Formats: sequence, structure tokens, C-alpha cells
Amino acid sequence: MQWKALALALLVEHGFGQGFPVPDGIPAMLRFQCSQLVIERLDPLVSPGSIPSPHLHQIVGGNSFNATMDPSTHDLVKSSTCTSCTFTEDFSNYWTAVLYFRARNGTYKRVPQLPNLGLGGNGGVTIYYIPPHDGTTNVTAFKPGFRMLVGDAALSEPGQDPKVCHRCMPEEGDNSNLNCAAPDSQTLPAEPCVGGIRSVITFPTCWDGVNTDTPDHKSHVAYPTEGTFDSNADGGPCPETHPVKIPQVMLETIWDTTPFNDEELWPEDGSQPFVWSTNDRDGYTQHGDYVFGWKDDSLQRAMDYRCTGDVCDVLEHQTFEESIKCTIPQTVEDDVDGWVTHIPGQEMLD
Ligand SMILES: *[C@@H]1O[C@H](CO)[C@@H](O)[C@H](O)[C@H]1NC(C)=O
Ligand SMILES: *[C@@H]1O[C@H](CO)[C@@H](O)[C@H](O)[C@H]1NC(C)=O
Ligand SMILES: *[C@@H]1O[C@H](CO)[C@@H](O)[C@H](O)[C@H]1NC(C)=O
Repeated sequence: MQWKALALALLVEHGFGQGFPVPDGIPAMLRFQCSQLVIERLDPLVSPGSIPSPHLHQIVGGNSFNATMDPSTHDLVKSSTCTSCTFTEDFSNYWTAVLYFRARNGTYKRVPQLPNLGLGGNGGVTIYYIPPHDGTTNVTAFKPGFRMLVGDAALSEPGQDPKVCHRCMPEEGDNSNLNCAAPDSQTLPAEPCVGGIRSVITFPTCWDGVNTDTPDHKSHVAYPTEGTFDSNADGGPCPETHPVKIPQVMLETIWDTTPFNDEELWPEDGSQPFVWSTNDRDGYTQHGDYVFGWKDDSLQRAMDYRCTGDVCDVLEHQTFEESIKCTIPQTVEDDVDGWVTHIPGQEMLD
């Protein structure tokens, strides 16, 4: 999808983003960095109350994140005092699995992360919220208590309709095509990547209009019935069961695999050395969790106003320096920085 490459190139070169008017032909989208809040074995969506949860996650967003986050009582906005995201009214939490490198001697090291093209901070995740590209249809922002999940931490074969994928990044740029088609793959790249590995997780754009969550954290939302999964880009219709158009949330992480690119470090059998924290060397199990926590109507305002990039007249901001100060201590004290004999939690898996 060329428009995405174009939009991002323009964003980076000109830094536009003062809300209206967005230049002709450039679709509006929030695109901003959330720095690392904590790297931690907790999962209040899939394993609420479990300390530890089965595998390690990187978590970004508001600092009220904890093991339970009971949707009926946990108010992310009121309970947070800071956020690791650029937009300071966004106390949502977003989390994904983390990537490890496995050395020939069998020890593991967590792969560092890079801020995305044109953004700063200490790694973490680039978050997108994309309204319809027609510029006139308004989406319905999420309601308090809204949560959702994409991907499956137990997947052992390619998903039929992938929403989670990897790209072997070239030296520079290349943000075109975010729909998991080639050159992206569901498996981890087989060769060393000079620009690191990008992983993308794309959430649905259609909602049932009623439930803020469902037991599988998926059934209350849906992808469009036609076109690509991005009904906001293509105008693809939402299914009758899920008629309400919601912003397209997308999580993008750049894993800096370059310190491990020397083929001398790679397995002698020719396989690739990276492993998701789910203990998955194929790459099918990356997943993204979202717990909505924007203050008042701030997200609705930003979507209706068609803010683009990480500057928006109707939202409050902080600098990257401020955003990296928002961190929380680990509840489960794992060594997530040194060389380790196994990935935290791996002993709890097969
Ligand atoms: C999580 O935070 C909520 C509200 O801030 C609090 O009531 C709850 O006890 C916390 N849970 C844990 C496990 O810390
Ligand atoms: C294992 O290999 C890595 C990468 O070569 C190295 O940095 C680490 O020190 C080694 N650990 C042991 C215990 O030999
Ligand atoms: C979308 O929201 C904006 C800002 O509130 C408003 O001016 C516009 O009329 C809305 N568009 C539609 C189609 O409702």
C-alpha cells in the first residue's frame, strides 16, 4: 500500500501534524511512540491475577498497569499518574511478547528495541490509530473498559488470515505495505536483517457496538467482510454482526537484531537464532493486547479532527525525555537484561 510509505515519508520529512488540513491524498492517522513502561511476566487480559503469567511481555502506556486490572473497578485514567506515550491523555496499556537471541552455547539474551522511523524514546512500541481515509466518516472511539487481543500465544502453524507478521528490514526506511503480504512473513526471517526485524500487529476495525470485552477477547470485534483487513483504508464493509467502525489500532516494534547478525553466532544447522518469549522459534505466536485508557473524549476528538503523526492540536503532549521517565518496577523479578540460561517463564512451558 503505497499511501502508507508516502504518508510516513512526508511525516518524517515535513513533520506535519497540526490537525487539519492534511495534505491531499495523505490519509490521517495518529502515529506515536510509547516507551517501555516495564518488561514483565504479567498479563491482566489473558491471565488476570496470575503472578507470574506464562510468558514475558513488553508493556507500554499508563502506569496503573498491574496483574488484575478488573474491568469493573480499574479506572486506568484515574489510577495512572503518568504514561510512557507521547500523548499524555493516553493511559491505555499495550503489550506484546518480546524477542530473544539464542547463542550457540544455549544461553539467551533479550533483543533490544529501537524507536521507529522519525520517532524517539527508548524503544517500546509505535502505536497507530487510523480513522477512515475518506476524511468524512467518523469512527466511534472505544468505551472505558474496552479490551481486545490479536494473535495466539499457542499457535504452532501459520494462521490462515494473518494479522501478525515480521519484516526483515533493509538498511533504511521501507514502511510500505502493512498488510502482512510479501515481503512480510508469519515466520521469523531466515536470514540476518541489516535493519533489524519489524513486527506488526493489526487489530480489527469493526465492533459489535455492545460488549467492551468477550471471554476470548476477540469475538466482540471483527475484520471487514471484503477487501483487506483495514476497513478504514479500503472502506470495506463491516459485518452485520459488528456494524460499528472503530479506529484501526496497530502496534509496530522494531527489534534491533543487528548485534546478532554475525553468521558465526548463528546456529550451525542453518536455522535462525531468534525466539519469542512464548518459547517459539517459528514466529507464529507473537500477539498484541490492548486495554483502552484514553482520558474523557480525547481519542474521539483526535480521530474526528483527523490528527496525523504525533503532533495534534486537540491533544496534550510530552517529550520523549519525559515519556521515558514513566516506568514501573517489575512485580515478578526476572533478569530481562543479562545472558540467561532460559527465557523467563520458559520452564513453565513444554
Ligand atoms: C491493581 O490496581 C487496582 C487499582 O489501582 C488495585 O485495586 C488492585 O489491588 C491492583 N492489583 C494488584 C495485583 O496489584
Ligand atoms: C554464550 O555465548 C554468548 C554469545 O557468544 C556469550 O556472550 C556468553 O558469554 C556465552 N555464555 C557462556 C556461559 O559461555
Ligand atoms: C465528524 O466529527 C467532526 C468533528 O466533531 C464534525 O465536524 C463532523 O461533522 C463529523 N462528521 C460526521 C460525518 O458526522
